[in-house]
This record gives sequence, structure tokens and C-alpha cells, in this order.
Amino acid sequence: MSIKTDLIKKLKDKSAKMAILGLGYVGLPLAVVFGEAGFKVTGVDPDKRKIDALAKGESYIPDVKSDAVSKLVKGGMFTATTDFSVLKDMDAVSICVPTPLRQTGDPDMSYIVSAMEELSKYMHKGMVVVLESTTYPGTTRELLLPKLGTDHNLTIGEDWFLAFSPERVDPGREDFTTINTPKVMGGITQACGEVATAWYEGAIKTVHHVSTAEAAEMSKLLENTFRMINIGLVNELAIMCEYLGVDVWEVIDAAATKPFGFMKFTPGPGLGGHCIPIDPLYLSWKMRSFNYNARFIELASEINTNMPRYVVSRLLEAMNDLGKTLKGSKVLVMGVAYKPDIDDVRESPSLDVIGLLQKKGADVSYHDPYIPHIHHEYDGWHMDSVKDLMKSVKEADAVVIVTNHKVYDYKAVIESAKFVFDSRNATGKLGAFANVERL
Ligand SMILES: NC(=O)c1ccc[n+]([C@@H]2O[C@H](COP(=O)([O-])OP(=O)(O)OC[C@H]3O[C@@H](n4cnc5c(N)ncnc54)[C@H](O)[C@@H]3O)[C@@H](O)[C@H]2O)c1
Repeated sequence: MSIKTDLIKKLKDKSAKMAILGLGYVGLPLAVVFGEAGFKVTGVDPDKRKIDALAKGESYIPDVKSDAVSKLVKGGMFTATTDFSVLKDMDAVSICVPTPLRQTGDPDMSYIVSAMEELSKYMHKGMVVVLESTTYPGTTRELLLPKLGTDHNLTIGEDWFLAFSPERVDPGREDFTTINTPKVMGGITQACGEVATAWYEGAIKTVHHVSTAEAAEMSKLLENTFRMINIGLVNELAIMCEYLGVDVWEVIDAAATKPFGFMKFTPGPGLGGHCIPIDPLYLSWKMRSFNYNARFIELASEINTNMPRYVVSRLLEAMNDLGKTLKGSKVLVMGVAYKPDIDDVRESPSLDVIGLLQKKGADVSYHDPYIPHIHHEYDGWHMDSVKDLMKSVKEADAVVIVTNHKVYDYKAVIESAKFVFDSRNATGKLGAFANVERL
């Protein structure tokens, strides 16, 4: 039996031993889905606090229930460790480590490199490796293939198998989760794609096999670039509507009644999260090596990056109209997570809004039911969420809604606040109010 046939057999009957490198927002849900599908899963993560929590059956990711982790741990279907040497026994390894951008806008590949270096020590014949981390096109072939295969004299597509499968997790979403969101899979060779697809089909409902790893890498960048550019478009629309004295929210809702050829995107205080603001920049970074300027991405990025500044300038003007200065005024920022109903503040535009308000001399505080504390890594400031929301709303000269969490009672906020600037149209359904201005 060939190595490929033997491995596919083990993957299909789920006797293959599998590991997931990186147990964060992506890796932990994936580990649970594979464990629940009947694979014995080993999670490896250098963060000891996460490993200790998982050993006790506790989840630290809101979308993953502790009950699910605890059941798998007790049933011996999931173990987690900081010890990479477990990789020596593995047949299948999925890499789900972070891929942030450096402050200079270049991709930070250090997590992929360190995971790859650990894995490289334990590479052997009969392994399949799938990279899930979002990255620039070419990473799987240019970075992983030499280090994991060529350096060990392993022939790709015969001795071992390598593929890219972009993660599509959308934190906080309940209708589409890891198990029922179709997964794209592209191998370095056709055989690589077939083996990796056989593995993932054992746990994920739909796996869409494309011809190359690059096609899979590029498909993820298309998805997120599509979102980023369309958000950039509606953000610019919001700016244009303000000049024209037209309500942008009314315009978008009207356009969205068209049953075909239009997809609704909404403006806001800027992009946030681990994906939309970052991933398209991987593509533009890569294209620069061809002396090609990814113009749509650069333009949308410029518009989106300026939105926190635009929100603050709108607030400044509104306060001026009320005869107040931003300098010295109490401003309460409501919601700092990068999107509603989640506890993730990564790349959130709220951090920029708060920083800009502070620079204008405002006395800024914030409230977020999901984020008790924020720390701005680059600017070095810390802040705690106010404890009593309604007391702070009453005391503030202005309330700025940055994240439209569902749990907020917006009617009560409007009734108590002196002035509200709503950058998300969280209050839109409540009607027009003299003390509310919307983006
Ligand atoms: N979070 C999302 O919504 C989302 C959605 C789609 C794609 N992605 C992509 O998936 C990847 C992972 O994102 P995430 O949100 O899960 O990140 P995360 O920060 O939540 O988790 C990453 C985990 O990897 C661990 N880690 C770091 N170095 C490691 C190493 N050398 N070996 C093993 N583990 C290591 C970290 O300790 C952490 O627990 C990124 O490329 C991201 O862009 C994320």
C-alpha cells in the first residue's frame, strides 16, 4: 500500500493521530469539531494558562462551550500540552497560529516560523500538514515546503502531504460555525489536496478542493478584500452623504431592498479584528514584490483607517454646535470590541477613537460589558471599563457609540445622555432625537 493510500485509510477510519498547533479563536473550535467527529486530538500551544484551563475542561473562547471541552477531555478525545515533542507520533497536523502585521505594515511570520521550526524537528514519512493561518499567497510553498519537506529529504505528494485551508470562523456567529462553514482546501500537489480533503471531510460538512495551495490562499484574501473594499465604499458614502445632507442609513436600507445585484454593507468608525483590516494588506505587500500597486486595497485601507479621525471630527463639530469644546469635556465611549457581542478588542477602531479623543484633551472613559480592561500596546495606556454605565452616561458631556452591543438599552441611554454620537446606527430604529447625531 502506498503512503498516500495508507494515510487516507487512517484519516477516513479516524485512527490517524492528529494535532492542532495554536489553540486560539480558530484552533480551539477546530479541535472540538475534530474531537466530536471521533478523532483523537492533541492541541499544542505555548500558552500554559490556556493548556491549564483546557486540562480542567474550561474554555476561554466564548464560542466554545466548556461542557464540550470537558466532555472531550474526560472521554480521552482531547488533550492539550505545551510540549511539542508529541508531534513525533502525529499523522496529521493543522497549524492555526497568529499572523499579525508588524507596525510597519509588513506581515509578521514569526509565529508560523516558530511553529514550523518545532514541527520540523518531528517530521516523518506519512504526515499531512495543513496551514490555516491567513497569510500572503505563496507562504505554504515558499516557507513551509522547504523547511518541513525538502530539508528532511521527504518527497512532497509521496512521502508527506502539505495543503492550505483558510479559516473562516466568524466569532459570535451561531448559524455558521466551524462545522457547517464550507472549507476551501488546496494542496501543494494534487495528492496533497486529496489527502488533506479526506482528513477534513471526516469532520467538516463541506470541503471544496481547489487545484493549488495558492488558489486556496488567494480565495481567503479575496473574501476579506471584498469585505474591506465594500466597507471602504460605504464609509466614503457616509462622508459624501454628510456633505449632501442625506441620511446614509436610509440610503443603504433603500438600496438593500433590491433583491439582486446589491449586498448590504454598513459604515462605521473603522475596521477591526484580526482579519478584515489586516489580510488584504498581505496581498498588497506581496504584490509590491512584483512592483504592482494593489490600488483598490490601498484606497479602501486609507478611507477605513481615517474613519476614527472622521468620527472624532464629527463629534468635535457637534460639540461646537452645542457651544462646548471637546477639550475638557467628559466623553464616554460605549463599546470597544471590534464588533458587537464579542470580547475581542484586537485592531478595534475604538482604540484609535479613544486615543484621538485623549489627544484633543477630552476626559475619556469607556464601557464594554465584555471587556473589563484595555491596554493600548503601542501608545502604552491602560483603562478600565466604568462600572456603572448609566451613572457615566448621565455625567458625560457626550456619549459615543463605537460598538453596537445588543445588550445595551439604547432608549435609556438616549433619555439620560446630554448628547449621543452614534457611529453604528445602534439607535436608528428608535427614531430621531434632538440629542442624537448619527454617522
Ligand atoms: N479569529 C478569527 O476570527 C479568525 C478568522 C479567520 C482566520 N483567522 C486567522 O487564523 C489564525 C489564528 O487566529 P486566532 O484568532 O485563532 O489567533 P489567536 O491569537 O486567538 O490564537 C493563536 C494561538 O496560537 C498560539 N501560538 C503562538 N505561537 C505558537 C506556536 N509557535 N506554536 C503553537 N501555538 C502557538 C497562541 O498562544 C494562541 O493561543 C490567524 O492567521 C488569523 O488571521 C482568524
